[in-house]
This record gives sequence, C-alpha cells and structure tokens, in this order.
Amino acid sequence: MYTWFKNLFTTTQPEIVMIAAIQNDRGIGYQGDLIHQIKNDMKHFVDATSGHTVIMGRKNWESIPEKYRPLSHRQNIIISRDPNYQATGALVVTSLKEAIAQSDRKKIYIIGGGQIYTLGLPYADTLDLTIVDAHKLADVFFPEFEKSFQLTTCSEEMRDERTNVTYTFQIWKRT
Ligand SMILES: NC(=O)c1ccc[n+]([C@@H]2O[C@H](COP(=O)([O-])OP(=O)(O)OC[C@H]3O[C@@H](n4cnc5c(N)ncnc54)[C@H](OP(=O)(O)O)[C@@H]3O)[C@@H](O)[C@H]2O)c1
Repeated sequence: MYTWFKNLFTTTQPEIVMIAAIQNDRGIGYQGDLIHQIKNDMKHFVDATSGHTVIMGRKNWESIPEKYRPLSHRQNIIISRDPNYQATGALVVTSLKEAIAQSDRKKIYIIGGGQIYTLGLPYADTLDLTIVDAHKLADVFFPEFEKSFQLTTCSEEMRDERTNVTYTFQIWKRT
C-alpha cells in the first residue's frame, strides 16, 4: 500500500530529447533524404538513442533502409494520421501525445523529420544537435528553437573527412 501511494507521487515523466543534424539555415532534408551523411554523426546518433524510445514521422520511417528497420535496441514509435499504417517491428500511433504516452522507457528521442520536430518542440526538454557548417539545398527544416532553449554544451569543431564539412555537437536545454 505504501509503495503504491509513494509511486503515485514520484512517477517521473520521461525526459524528451530531440536529436537532429542541422545546417546553418536549419535545413535537415532534401527530397526525402538526409542532406548530410557524416559517419561520426551516425555513430553519435546510435550511441545517444540506443536503449531508449525513438519517435519518428511516417516519412522518416520510410526513408530508413528496410534492413535497418526497426532501429535496433530501441523502442520504435511511428506517427501517422492513418491508424491502419503498418510498420513491422514498430508501434504506430496517430498523435505525438499518444507516442509519448506509449513509451516504455525513461528517455524519449524525437528523431524527426521536419513535421515531427515541429510538433515535438513544445514537449522537448533538451535538443541534441549536430550543427553542420554548410548551406546545401534543403526542402525540410528544423523549427526555430533559439528563443526557448540555451546552449549548454558545445564540442570542439570537427571535420568530416569524406565530405570535408565541419560540424559541432551541441546540447541545448529549455530555458
Ligand atoms: N537531419 C536530420 O537529423 C533528419 C532527421 C530525420 C529526418 N530528416 C529528413 O526529414 C525529411 C522527412 O521529414 P518530413 O517533415 O517530410 O516528414 P516526417 O516528419 O518524417 O513525417 C511526416 C508524416 O508524419 C505524420 N504526421 C505529421 N503530423 C502529424 C500529426 N499532427 N498527426 C498525425 N500524424 C502526423 C504524417 O504521416 P501520414 O502521411 O502517414 O499521415 C506525415 O506525412 C527527410 O528528408 C529526412 O531525411 C532529417
């Protein structure tokens, strides 16, 4: 009885993190694909999200090669307006609120794309951003975030050997 009563008041909400690789104009995608493919950033993404829940839009899910779906060692939740949408190995829900409620982990990563980042911004505690110093053509953008979040950690600048772009890993916390 005591444990039940205590849990009622100590149940903590999961931390919600949005993780993205964004360039200077906040561009994140072009024609259904990523605009920057940085090996070290992919590793950063896997290291950060493994063991947690990942929430993504239906289009982002479909942009992941089938052999990598669902993302391993993570609870995968897909948001679609179609309640009958089938995503093998993942849970399909029709709203972000439902996605958050269905998470069975203590940490949730919202992993895009653009529509879902925009939906997720008001819920996010933390932004885990790879800021890529580039201006490539983009048709999907990360929402404006600077007014409600402050930079708390920034890595040293790194250079991707394959594409020669420079980037930093940055953590932003809600103010
Ligand atoms: N740089 C990065 O870090 C990064 C990360 C992820 C993705 N991306 C890029 O982002 C692009 C994809 O982003 P996107 O904005 O086109 O699509 P998205 O956000 O991945 O998915 C959009 C879909 O989500 C569903 N949806 C959106 N709002 C909803 C709502 N209010 N209620 C229920 N369902 C809703 C709809 O699915 P239905 O149509 O099925 O209803 C909609 O078509 C790609 O280019 C991808 O490569 C970049």
